[in-house]
Amino acid sequence: MRKLLLAVAAAAILVVPALSPVSAQAQSPIVIKFSHVVANDTPKGKGALKFKELAEKYTDGKVKIEVYPNSTLYKDKEEIEALQLGSVHMLAPSTAKFAPLGIKEFEALDLPWLFKDGETYANAMKGTVGKWLFQKLEAKGITGLGYWDNGFHMVSANRPLVKPTDFQGLKFRISGSKVADQYFRLVGTIPQIMAFSEVYQALQTGVVDGCENTASNYWTQKFYEVQKDITVSYHAHLQYAVIVNSKFWSGLAPDIRTQLEKAMNEATDYTNSIARQENEDALAEIKKAGKTTLHYLTDADRKAWQEAMQPTYKWAKGRVGQEVLDLLAKELDVKMN
Ligand code: LMR
Repeated sequence: MRKLLLAVAAAAILVVPALSPVSAQAQSPIVIKFSHVVANDTPKGKGALKFKELAEKYTDGKVKIEVYPNSTLYKDKEEIEALQLGSVHMLAPSTAKFAPLGIKEFEALDLPWLFKDGETYANAMKGTVGKWLFQKLEAKGITGLGYWDNGFHMVSANRPLVKPTDFQGLKFRISGSKVADQYFRLVGTIPQIMAFSEVYQALQTGVVDGCENTASNYWTQKFYEVQKDITVSYHAHLQYAVIVNSKFWSGLAPDIRTQLEKAMNEATDYTNSIARQENEDALAEIKKAGKTTLHYLTDADRKAWQEAMQPTYKWAKGRVGQEVLDLLAKELDVKMN
């Protein structure tokens, strides 16, 4: 009898430590690392913080979102590799940055003067084309959760860029899209892909002469300090895909995933609702800082840019394929050439 009691007591001792990590695990929050390359004070930065706030609220603290802005965790190209490896769980790269994964179709979104305005963009991405593009990511172990807006690009250099010929011979930083490479080549620049975190210094030291970006990025990265002239051209759109590691995402308990999806949908609506105003405010700040001259295109100037960049559409067929161009043409009710 005594032997039996001892055996039971020993078994209990063995069982307790085996159980305790499980119960401790149930209490400690699931950590989601959300890395991005821009400042907190931008549409994407604010969207990430809004997602954190809502996700932690809806999961009642069961999930903790750690947001790493400003390339503090990874730079552009590294972050997508890190996502695939599972070192980071969530990102919101611009759609210009998916080609290294072997997915070129997203670059169709970078075509010049494709979207009439922010609303047209947002509607298109909620429709067939947005879903079709997300399906492309699945084969790479990546799940798309939403599209975030950051408005339209401006261009800059240390000389006014008003006529297409003004670009001639400039070294131009681009973020990754071959479509952007093409339209900048058509106006005579030498485009160069460079990580976002390296742009300020490259502009300052003359490694590149100019670049394109949205007002919120010019303002928060201080590009306006090292560029004498900015043209408010709004020639192309900057959008992000919020993405997660598929294995991680599908491994979450269904109720947690539902709560996170709700948080993401609301954070997406929030981000897309502030993007325009954020960029207008940033442009007003740049103007107020008085370090750079702002230029605006007349209708004739815009037409000249459009004509110069138009061959990008024909060229894009060979790069992104006809299917995505057809989907966009249908969604936007435009002709793609
Ligand atoms: C860039 O590299 O210029 C942009 O993609 C940065 C960003 O994420 O807004």
